[in-house]
Amino acid sequence: MRDSATEPVRILLVDDTRTNLAILSDYIHTQGWVALTASDGETALQQAQSASPDLILLDVMLPGIDGFETCRQLKAHAATADIPIIFMTALSDSANKIKGLKLGAVDYITKPFQQEEVVTRLDVQLRLHQMKCQLEQQNQLLNQKVVEQAKTEAQLQLLTYELEERVQSRTAELNSVLDNLTQTQVHLVQSEKMSSLGQMTAGLAHEINNPVNFIYGNLRPARRYFQDFIDLLTHYQTCYPNPPADLQEHLESVDISFVVKDAFNLLDSLEIGADRIRRIVLSLRNFSRLDEADIKSINIHEGIDSTLLILQHKLRGAVDSEPIEVIKHYSAAFEVECYPSQLNQVFMNILANAIDAIEENRSRLSEPEASSSAHTIEICTELTTDRQVIIQIADNGPGIPEAIRAKLFDPFFTTKAVGKGTGLGLSISHQIVVEKHGGQIQCLSEPGKGTRFLIKIPQTQRCLEPPAVGTESRCAIAQPI
Ligand SMILES: Nc1ncnc2c1ncn2[C@@H]1O[C@H](COP(=O)(O)OP(=O)(O)OP(=O)(O)O)[C@@H](O)[C@H]1O
Ligand SMILES: [Mg+2]
Repeated sequence: MRDSATEPVRILLVDDTRTNLAILSDYIHTQGWVALTASDGETALQQAQSASPDLILLDVMLPGIDGFETCRQLKAHAATADIPIIFMTALSDSANKIKGLKLGAVDYITKPFQQEEVVTRLDVQLRLHQMKCQLEQQNQLLNQKVVEQAKTEAQLQLLTYELEERVQSRTAELNSVLDNLTQTQVHLVQSEKMSSLGQMTAGLAHEINNPVNFIYGNLRPARRYFQDFIDLLTHYQTCYPNPPADLQEHLESVDISFVVKDAFNLLDSLEIGADRIRRIVLSLRNFSRLDEADIKSINIHEGIDSTLLILQHKLRGAVDSEPIEVIKHYSAAFEVECYPSQLNQVFMNILANAIDAIEENRSRLSEPEASSSAHTIEICTELTTDRQVIIQIADNGPGIPEAIRAKLFDPFFTTKAVGKGTGLGLSISHQIVVEKHGGQIQCLSEPGKGTRFLIKIPQTQRCLEPPAVGTESRCAIAQPI
C-alpha cells in the first residue's frame, strides 16, 4: 500500500488523444503529482491493477472497450473498486455525465479543459478520497474496539453470572446453616425444657408420694380404731346406763353423739383428699414419664387427662371468674405407639395456648360479656379405620388472624409479652408430631370463631408412611371451624 504522507500522488490519465494526455500531464506535474497514462481501456485496467493510482481521469470515447465499460470493470474488481474515477466528456454531453456518475464515477471534467478547474476538481476528489480512507480506517478501528468491548462485556457478564451463582449458592448454604442452627437451638431448648419440667414433676411426685401413702395407708386402721372406741363407748353406756353426775355432764358438754357421727364424715373427707393427692401424683408421674424414653404403647387419654390435671389451676382461673369448661369426646380406649412424655408435651403446649387465648379474650371483654359467655375447650379423640389416631383440641378463644397463622409453627414466633412466651411451644410440638411420630399437625382458625388444632399420628410407629388423605372421621376433621 502507498504511503500518502511520503509518496507523491499518482493520477492515471486515460485518453486516446495524445495532445489531451500531454496537456493533462502538464497540469498534473505543476501540482507535484505523478501522471500515469493509458490510451485505451484494456491498458487502463492493467495499469490500475499494477500501479494502484490515487485517481483515474477517464475519457468516455476510447478504442476497444469504451470508458463506461472500463469504469464498470474497475468498480467490479476489489483491488480497483475504491479508486475515484473522473470522467472526461464534451461540455454538452449531459447524458454521458449522468451515465458516468451512475456507474460510480465521482465527478466529470468537460472538454475543452480549463487548467484551474481540472486541478481544483482533482484536488477536491483527492482530498475527499483521502478523508474517506481515513474515515474507513477510523471506522475499522472503531469496529475493532466495539468487538473488543463486546468481548469484554461478555466476559463481564459471565463473571457477573458466575458471581451471582456463587452468591446464590453461598446464601443457600448460609440459610441452611441458619435453619440447622435454629433447629438445633429448638432441640436444645426442647430437651432442656422437657428434662427440667420432667425432672421437676417426677421429683415432686416422688416427694409427695411417700407421705401421702402414710396418710392413705393409716386411714383404714384409724377408721377401725375409731369404730372400736365407739363400740367400747356404746358397750359402756349399755352396761352403765346411769353414770355419775359429773361424767354425764362431761358427756353432754362434748356432744358425744355428734362427735361419733362427724368423725366418720371427717375420715371420709380425709380419704377423698388423700385419694385426690394420690391421683395427682400418679398424673405427674404419668406426665413426666422420665423412665420411658423409648416408644411405648399407651392409652392416649391418660396422657391428656394427666396434662389437664396439671393445668387444673389454670383452667379454674381467678377466684372471681368462671372456670374454663373442658368438654371431652373420647373414643373407646385404644393403645398408641408413641413417645409418651413428648406427646404429653404437645398436649401441654396446645392446651396452655388455648387457656392463654381464652384468658386474653376474657380480659378484653367487658364484665357482663365476660361472665355471660361460656369458655370452653373441647377435646376429641378418634381411631380411624386406617389406624390413624386423631386428636382435636378446640377452644372458643379469639381465633388467629391469617397473617399470624402462617408463622404459628416458626421457632421463636410469639405474640405474647416478653417473659410470657418463648414462641417455641408450637414449633416443638410440630417437631414432635411430624418428625418424631411421622404425623401431621394443623391449625384451623378464624378471628372471632376460636381455634382448632388437629393432630394426626399413625397408631403404630413401625409403619411411618404418610397417613391417607380424606379418611372419614367422626370428629369432622379438616372442616374449617
Ligand atoms: N389457641 C390459640 N388461640 C390464639 N392464638 C394462639 C393459639 N395457639 C397459639 N396461638 C398463637 O401462636 C403463638 C405461638 O404459640 P407458641 O405456643 O409457639 O408460643 P407461645 O405460646 O407464644 O410461647 P411458649 O413458648 O411459651 O409456648 C402464640 O404467641 C399465639 O399468638
Ligand atoms: Mg405456647
